[in-house]
Amino acid sequence: MNILLLGGTGQLGRECLLRAGPDLRIVAPTRQELDLAAPGGIEAFVAAQDADVIVNAAAYTAVDKAEAERDLAHVLNAEVPGRLAAAAAAKGIPLVHVSTDYVFDGRKGAPYRPDDPVAPLGAYGASKEAGERAVRAAGARAVILRTAWVYGPFGGNFLATMLRVGAERDVLKVVDDQRGTPTTAADLAAACLAIAARLVDEPSEPGGTFHFTNAGETTWCGFARAIFEIAGPRLPKVPQVLAITTAEYPTPAKRPADSRLDCAATLARFPVIQPDWRAALAATLDRLLQRTNDA
Ligand SMILES: NC(=O)c1ccc[n+]([C@@H]2O[C@H](COP(=O)([O-])OP(=O)(O)OC[C@H]3O[C@@H](n4cnc5c(N)ncnc54)[C@H](OP(=O)(O)O)[C@@H]3O)[C@@H](O)[C@H]2O)c1
Repeated sequence: MNILLLGGTGQLGRECLLRAGPDLRIVAPTRQELDLAAPGGIEAFVAAQDADVIVNAAAYTAVDKAEAERDLAHVLNAEVPGRLAAAAAAKGIPLVHVSTDYVFDGRKGAPYRPDDPVAPLGAYGASKEAGERAVRAAGARAVILRTAWVYGPFGGNFLATMLRVGAERDVLKVVDDQRGTPTTAADLAAACLAIAARLVDEPSEPGGTFHFTNAGETTWCGFARAIFEIAGPRLPKVPQVLAITTAEYPTPAKRPADSRLDCAATLARFPVIQPDWRAALAATLDRLLQRTNDA
């Protein structure tokens, strides 16, 4: 299978590239080769590729900054996916596009199903929701895969932040009234590639909107505590983690209070594996701390 991957330098993109091999060729243009902030060249670029499927892992992901950079967020998260989907449709190849739990307002009080009404609270979520609509409107055979709380051994994320500030401070105050599911970029990459393969192998697979996270749920505070419980014996210093409320930690963008995603339809339809979030965290910490020790 030949994949055209957008966003190969990001958390998800890097994990996809690690899975490349003789049977899985992945072409991932750099920002210099294809600057998505000036998306006029996307159609010609896609047309020139020898790809069986496109995986879009590129996005504007700075949730708070998006409030002040709405136009750029819209280009990356709405215009680019729409153009990619149109280019995929023109070429007759499918698309896997990654979206977010932040398309929901978090007021449902139960895990969101793919067809639940969307109501983003901030500019980032709104731009991603517009991207979903643009993909659907373009008429490509596409899977829109919403995920949440992505982290891994590469790049800036909650895990990296906790380990950094945990090494500097004795006490960390972490929000305990936002529920969701931490999801490793590695497990998300495996899911994206499995879905891409199914779209390529089964032309009758129509695609649609689906959810993928690791299994289980927690809060950001629960996530932080789990990080230090699991990694603690291997860290020089373990901070105390205190629970605070969202109101005590104001941010430019409002976030959903409960963005758990119901992944049942994805598991029923595609050959994806959904490890428990704590097991996935332990595996990620093993990789990260091994790398740190080796360095
Ligand atoms: N991170 C999360 O917690 C989270 C949660 C829910 C959903 N998601 C979704 O999951 C997907 C993957 O997220 P991620 O965390 O892997 O993202 P990420 O680490 O922030 O990576 C974003 C990627 O987009 C690329 N990109 C941004 N602007 C670009 C431009 N102008 N031209 C070319 N490339 C550009 C980046 O390239 P550079 O390296 O050159 O900047 C990078 O490869 C996204 O669709 C995101 O919305 C993420």
